[in-house]
Amino acid sequence: MSFEIRPLSDALGAEVIGIDLTQPIDDAAFTVLHKAHLNYQVLVFREQQLTPQQQIDFSVRFGPLDKHPSQGKAHLEGYPDILVVSTKTENGKDVGIRNAGPAWHSDLAYMEQPALGSMLYALELPDSGGNTGFANMYAACEALPKDLREAVEKRRALFCSTRNKELKALHPILRTHPETGRKSIFVNPQLTHRINDMADDESDALLAEIYDHCRKPNFIYWHRWQPGDLTFWDNRCVLHIADHKRLDDPNYIRHMHRTTIAGDTPF
Ligand code: SIN
Repeated sequence: MSFEIRPLSDALGAEVIGIDLTQPIDDAAFTVLHKAHLNYQVLVFREQQLTPQQQIDFSVRFGPLDKHPSQGKAHLEGYPDILVVSTKTENGKDVGIRNAGPAWHSDLAYMEQPALGSMLYALELPDSGGNTGFANMYAACEALPKDLREAVEKRRALFCSTRNKELKALHPILRTHPETGRKSIFVNPQLTHRINDMADDESDALLAEIYDHCRKPNFIYWHRWQPGDLTFWDNRCVLHIADHKRLDDPNYIRHMHRTTIAGDTPF
């Protein structure tokens, strides 16, 4: 099986050209893809034509799947493992989650065991807009100014779901990737509520400084989707955001299927 892996930016990300994910992936090819995912943090598989089951079959090669807490309402009929991320409506109702990822975040960070990774497959795309930003949290961690690093090094933060206030968890602000051993910044503006054991105003100020740092353009790759793209990001060391400028425009159609791979307890 031969395919090519080409870096997409100086920050992170690589595209995988010449692989057909509808076909069985042998162990040697899987090892190359797994290493590339650890190395580049985001992979973009171009020109795919996947059925929902083929997306699930490829996703489970990386581990068991997580069901998104909203998936009950937004899963693809007949496929509880697929979350529909879509601006489409049927009979006046959204067919999936319309505004997934409006701020920088990593998926399911409010769970005791946040997601390892997510795969998002583009089925229909608008003529413009709807890009996804990915930010390299290893690089952000390595470049943290000394005083900021010391202020958060041993601390934990509380994460809460924006949709279900019952879902919350405490995690280290700097986590160690279980496979690469590298440290990354794990807090994010969408799901981190506050720093544990710190006064609210001090916590707000510190988090704001960290977020400004994490959003520096040199850590970020903006993905302009092409038809048939399947992106696979590592939630343990990457933040992402959807850039929707026309969510209320009925002509803005962006329709995607997401699978989410279960992770482990951050340390
Ligand atoms: C998400 O946060 O899972 C969705 C990102 C996107 O729609 O670009």
